[in-house]
Amino acid sequence: MAPLTAVITGANQGIGLEIARKLAQHANTRIVMAARSEEKGRTAQAQVQADAAAGNEVLLHQLDITDSGSIARFAEWAEQELHMVDVLVNNAGFAFKGNAFGAEEAQQTIGVNFRGTANVTEALLPLIPDGGRIINVGSSAGKLSIVKDTALRERFERAARREELEKLCDNFVDAIRLGKHSQEGWPSSMYGISKLALNQYGRVLAQQLQPRGIMVATVCPGYCSTSMSSFGGSQSAEAGADTPAWLAVEVPAAEAMSKSGRFFRDRKEEPF
Ligand SMILES: NC(=O)c1ccc[n+]([C@@H]2O[C@H](COP(=O)([O-])OP(=O)(O)OC[C@H]3O[C@@H](n4cnc5c(N)ncnc54)[C@H](OP(=O)(O)O)[C@@H]3O)[C@@H](O)[C@H]2O)c1
Repeated sequence: MAPLTAVITGANQGIGLEIARKLAQHANTRIVMAARSEEKGRTAQAQVQADAAAGNEVLLHQLDITDSGSIARFAEWAEQELHMVDVLVNNAGFAFKGNAFGAEEAQQTIGVNFRGTANVTEALLPLIPDGGRIINVGSSAGKLSIVKDTALRERFERAARREELEKLCDNFVDAIRLGKHSQEGWPSSMYGISKLALNQYGRVLAQQLQPRGIMVATVCPGYCSTSMSSFGGSQSAEAGADTPAWLAVEVPAAEAMSKSGRFFRDRKEEPF
């Protein structure tokens, strides 16, 4: 039987590295670690290969999810070398540290967490077979409740196309630029809005891919001790990798579609 092929973005460190490690321990699985820096990726690849189940191949390929050329090169390589991507784990993410806040910073954060993730997903979608899985590493910081203005919140909740989410993100960035974001009912969390857009994008995509039996699930890994949290999280990156890995390979195929479009934390569905 051909191995299951799983691509993990941002796999060189933190939760992504631990997701790659867990998936590599799953029998008959081919792991593709996507990393922005090949050098950092190579060290991580060696670690994952050392812990992999017998016979599992662990590959590495450069991918900067904000660089359209890098995405195109990755997709072309995947088509030629992998032929299909059964599981895509969109783990790569970014947050500014400290008090950084501004329109450019918001644009950059949304560019990685929402636009970059959506662009990678759409570039790889032709390679995802019917019955495949897309797992987005979202965040509880991006729940609908962070938007206090009811009309704005409803626009997010009702968004049924990526373009509507793009527009909402543009509105957020413009409001920051004009110094009106609080007045308009936006939160002061650039990361929160970027993950809210990603969380809702997961629901939009789940709806679109329902006819093909492709599961799209979003996960909050919990507050983990990684570079992103300046190693201040309350649990390990390995613990944070548990639910994404469970959704990626452990949930039986017969149950997968009942989880599509849902938001998970600690292997349990949560309201989004
Ligand atoms: N840690 C937490 O408490 C927590 C909580 C909720 C959600 N999350 C989410 O969990 C995911 C993993 O985060 P983490 O905690 O493991 O943080 P991390 O250690 O900082 O890892 C982030 C990963 O994303 C990669 N990345 C960032 N920008 C990228 C880009 N443009 N292209 C490709 N890769 C890029 C990083 O690559 P480089 O090494 O090259 O920078 C790194 O591999 C993120 O989506 C994050 O938002 C984390």
